[in-house]
Amino acid sequence: MKHYKIEKEKGRLWLIEDAYSPLFEEKTEAIFAQCNGYMGVRAAHPFLSIEEKRGMFLRGAFDKAYDDEATELVNCPDVTWFGLEINEEKLHTDSTKMLSCERRLDVLSGELQIRYVFELALGRKAEVECRRFASADDRHLFLQSYRVRLNGGEPGDIRISTGINGQITNSGVSHFHSVSERVYDREIMESIGKLKKNAVVVLTQCTSGDSKPSKTDFVLKRRSIYGTYCFDGVIEVEICKVSVVFQTGEMDGDKACGHVRRASEKGYDRLFHEHVSAMRKFWEQAGIRIRGMSVEQEAAVCFSQYHIFGMTPYDTEEFSIAAKGLTGEGYKGHVFWDTEIFLFPFWLHVCPEQAKRLLGFRYIGLDGARKKAKDYGYKGAMFPWEAAGTGEEETPLYAALNIHTGKANKVWSGIKEYHVTADIVYAVERYYEVTGNWKFMEKRGYEIIFEAARFWVSCAEKDEKTGMYVIRDVIGPDEYTEHVDNNAYTNYMAAFCVKIARKYAVLLKKEKPVLFEALDKKTGVSGELDTWERFLKGIYLPQPDRNGIIPQDDTFLSKPMLKNIEKYRSARMKQAILLDYSREEIVNMQVLKQADVVMLMNLFPWLFMEETVRKNVLFYEKRTVHDSSLSYCAYAQASAHIGDREAAEKFFENALFVDLNDNPLVSGDGIHAASMGGVWNCLIYGFAGVWYEKGKLSVRPHLPDTWQEMEFKLIVRGIRIRFCISHQGIIMESEAKLESSIHVEAEGKEYEFQGYLNISRKREGREEWNKRQREPSLTWMG
Ligand code: BGC
Repeated sequence: MKHYKIEKEKGRLWLIEDAYSPLFEEKTEAIFAQCNGYMGVRAAHPFLSIEEKRGMFLRGAFDKAYDDEATELVNCPDVTWFGLEINEEKLHTDSTKMLSCERRLDVLSGELQIRYVFELALGRKAEVECRRFASADDRHLFLQSYRVRLNGGEPGDIRISTGINGQITNSGVSHFHSVSERVYDREIMESIGKLKKNAVVVLTQCTSGDSKPSKTDFVLKRRSIYGTYCFDGVIEVEICKVSVVFQTGEMDGDKACGHVRRASEKGYDRLFHEHVSAMRKFWEQAGIRIRGMSVEQEAAVCFSQYHIFGMTPYDTEEFSIAAKGLTGEGYKGHVFWDTEIFLFPFWLHVCPEQAKRLLGFRYIGLDGARKKAKDYGYKGAMFPWEAAGTGEEETPLYAALNIHTGKANKVWSGIKEYHVTADIVYAVERYYEVTGNWKFMEKRGYEIIFEAARFWVSCAEKDEKTGMYVIRDVIGPDEYTEHVDNNAYTNYMAAFCVKIARKYAVLLKKEKPVLFEALDKKTGVSGELDTWERFLKGIYLPQPDRNGIIPQDDTFLSKPMLKNIEKYRSARMKQAILLDYSREEIVNMQVLKQADVVMLMNLFPWLFMEETVRKNVLFYEKRTVHDSSLSYCAYAQASAHIGDREAAEKFFENALFVDLNDNPLVSGDGIHAASMGGVWNCLIYGFAGVWYEKGKLSVRPHLPDTWQEMEFKLIVRGIRIRFCISHQGIIMESEAKLESSIHVEAEGKEYEFQGYLNISRKREGREEWNKRQREPSLTWMG
């Protein structure tokens, strides 16, 4: 990492871009964005710049501009622009001489600071400093402080213009069919942008402490409103700009002005203090302290957690996490399997309530998923590959150019990438395992599982030759391989889904007949039990071949390898392979966009022998371009899990810097949310080796040699447990009394705890661990 520097000071950890860089503009805007789970504001300069892609995204502010376009997260009116004139000279990043420019993000608080020194006509200098944060204490609040100081001691006339700009579009598409503005009491500006289903309301007020402007003018333009604040004969001016942002139904419109005023009275510093207290609570629960990491790695870990906090809708189950969080237009704000498989584990162990809300989003979407299944001729529920604010499919039909035909390629994921339906079930089951929340299962969980199982069984076919159930014509996690039969990941996940569905159905029928009957009415589960049993006996689960490789699908191993894979692995542009080959050509080669079989190994860490994992990681990684950000973290986790430290550290380093790397061509349209979750999974499940399943908490760490100690807290069965893992020992302590007994396995030694959990033990050597390696346990498939 060269472009971004790191600076640590008490309670702050800064990522710094220390020069004005049009090349990195879009990327820095996205990765330095202010996000608080309600809003995400890109870190654009306060001045207009040609390269900018200014944006504010609100969770749930979706709209479909035209019938043939996908529903997308709307780029909302901007409040970050400030126009500046000093002694009638207009300042501009692209035309005024800039002596210095620095943009810095504190990854602990999420505060952004931008500082410039400009050289004005006649050689005078002016310093401009802009600070911003999206409040974690009051999520509708966005704060900015804008300070201008004239150097040299000679006063001047300073005019600052700022307001609300509703001319913003999503890459040229305006979603607001009307924007109305007004000013209250010559103080507070308001803009109401109407979407098809709701409206985005922004109110903003600028105050300047004791230095009152000599004149304030408000100007209303088409879809924008701003005030110009004139300060005559001054050396320094500081404006505090408070913006309150909400959507219809979230706040009483009449009270919004009062909200703005009260916040303005408090001012930037006090509100920042309140915000930091709220962030501190997050860090107390989520922070991971690793001694021995480089400061860059430490900053990258905190950076990923800051964004996980900021991308997750905090108060509702009506929306979920977008693949780019709230930092850009990429993937149109849609929700993918990224949420359940990559990000969900973090919330499951840090704030199970939040994890439950993410599952709630899928439950609300069940009807949409039922409809999709029906439309495709299947039973049960087929969840959308891409979701927006409902359970309906939102994947666009065409994207990326086919270099041979000159036309856009068809996107098959929305039609054929079935595995998301099992991924959601996997998350439901993990939630139940880790929390034991049976009420959730009774109200929602079982229904999701049963409907998903019905889907899987209805889309499997009996193979004439083998008599086994097969799943044909799918796309697995590796999206460079389309229209294949028996993708291993998909088949195993489908089997897992049907297996637990059957287990629960049989159990409920016996032990909770009333509940079973109610669920039966909704899902027709009683008529499925025999079919499910047959499916489980006959489903084809690809096994390791004589080289220990699990075939990714029926034909993968018979295809030729892509010869010049290095060219694409090292290309600055992601998916550069599509510039040389059409999708059809890629499909017929052994080349992976991202981890596939290895993903399966991560989800079921005890299913395969270490040796099998090792062989598959090696085999498939050689064939993987890592054109998806979901890839490095997956290989890192699998390698850490089996103790291949060298490989784990290499892949982990790549995963950590998926956004913070020196490639200006990535992340411009938003950060890579899944990879941030993947970093956490790799740290906790991989390096720390912590896993809770079937009532047993196991800890089998594989720390990199350079790390001395890892300390973190996880919630298991409602109790927060503190872990401290080093090369010498493992310490585990519960913060409160356990509600029920817990079984712990720390590197082979078994413990049973009631009351408080407390372990402090020395670690065993690697050889003893190797000796205890188990045989594979494929029996779980039933
Ligand atoms: C990946 C998918 C992922 C999506 C959103 C695609 O490039 O192939 O696995 O879900 O990005 O992050």
